[in-house]
Amino acid sequence: MKCVLMNKNTEVLVAEYNEISKFFDKIYEVNNIDYAPYILKSFYIKDEINDTPFRTNLSEWFKGRGIPSWRDKLDLLLLRLNITAPYELLDKAFGLSLSDQYWLKPEDSDISYDDINFFDNDFDYAEFMEASLSTNSKTITNETSLKTPNNTTDGMLKKAWIIDNGIRYLLKGGYKNETLQPFNEALASEICKRLGFNHVEYTIDTYKDTVVSKCPCFINKETELITCYQIRNDMKRHDSIEDYEEYIKKLEENGIENAREKVENMYILDFLIMNEDRHLNNFGIIRDVNTLKWLDVAPIFDNGQSLNIEYYDEEELHISGCGRLFYEVKPFDEIIKVVKNIKRIDISMLDGVVEWFDELLHKYQYLTGYSDKRILRLCILLNRQINKLKKLIEQ
Ligand SMILES: Nc1ncnc2c1ncn2[C@@H]1O[C@H](COP(=O)(O)OP(=O)(O)OP(=O)(O)O)[C@@H](O)[C@H]1O
Ligand SMILES: [Mg+2]
Repeated sequence: MKCVLMNKNTEVLVAEYNEISKFFDKIYEVNNIDYAPYILKSFYIKDEINDTPFRTNLSEWFKGRGIPSWRDKLDLLLLRLNITAPYELLDKAFGLSLSDQYWLKPEDSDISYDDINFFDNDFDYAEFMEASLSTNSKTITNETSLKTPNNTTDGMLKKAWIIDNGIRYLLKGGYKNETLQPFNEALASEICKRLGFNHVEYTIDTYKDTVVSKCPCFINKETELITCYQIRNDMKRHDSIEDYEEYIKKLEENGIENAREKVENMYILDFLIMNEDRHLNNFGIIRDVNTLKWLDVAPIFDNGQSLNIEYYDEEELHISGCGRLFYEVKPFDEIIKVVKNIKRIDISMLDGVVEWFDELLHKYQYLTGYSDKRILRLCILLNRQINKLKKLIEQ
């Protein structure tokens, strides 16, 4: 099918899209390379669009929009959706997403972005939500249930986009039988709120008997998320602090105000909750899709893999675990050193946050089945990190 890759209302390129393989077999012309997905731009060489990695990377990028092969309980989800692979979903809704504005327009159609985007146009989310988050769900029978932004969500955790009072929210579950992720997300939001860090607000919700986190979409029709992974893709890799410094420099060069402080805030949060999963797709920037201006650092999101989630042991308190600083995995005590002036943090704002977390965990104990001991241990870990940060500030 001949189609146009669109960025909202801007034509990026015209290509032959193979609906079976989901690859782009040929690129006819590139109209606006600046409006292409950020990661593609560096592969573009004028007059060589079909012979360079550009075309392959276009296909890779498009396939990468789908639900990843490492999504928790993917086999079950596929069975319930009555499909054999996530990529079958890719073009069911023009490839649209709620994290950016790219879509595939059949060349002979006069369909417009306004008619189809998921920010304005409602979608049938009930069946996908059930298939993704429920423990016992039927097979989807309604084809419109496959025309949702869920076709283009990344990430390991079971998740579903829903609409509540007109607002688009992402619901996220835990990994396998673990249920701590939603609580960690809620804790992260509470800490960010108290410390004044720009963040995505996660609250606890329940779907049937499953605890989930719920957060509003932080992208709107004028914006897109560009992750650090995309930004760093054409930059030299050092496997050292240089990677971090170059990223900050790039953000500053593109006019993001207080970029360093904002990225530091994310590492302060990671220190406090011992977040192990700050990989390069878990942070980034927001770009205006009309002007291409870099607007801001993306609000802090995806903080669930924290508080030693994988190492809980009823017998002893584990306090190991490392965080991530770009391509390196390092102890949290090392990573926190990127913060130039830790004294700017008013740690007294965290007074009472451990009690707040304790209460939250107890409130949902009837669903999670956490023992009092586990809750106590989680609170000890949090308290310990807060005290460590206090000491660093007082030094
Ligand atoms: N509130 C939101 N608004 C818009 N896009 C979002 C939002 N939350 C997440 N996303 C997008 O969805 C992707 C997956 O979400 P998230 O990182 O929270 O999931 P995850 O399963 O925890 O990921 P991981 O595999 O890193 O553990 C994000 O990388 C981002 O592109
Ligand atoms: Mg993520």
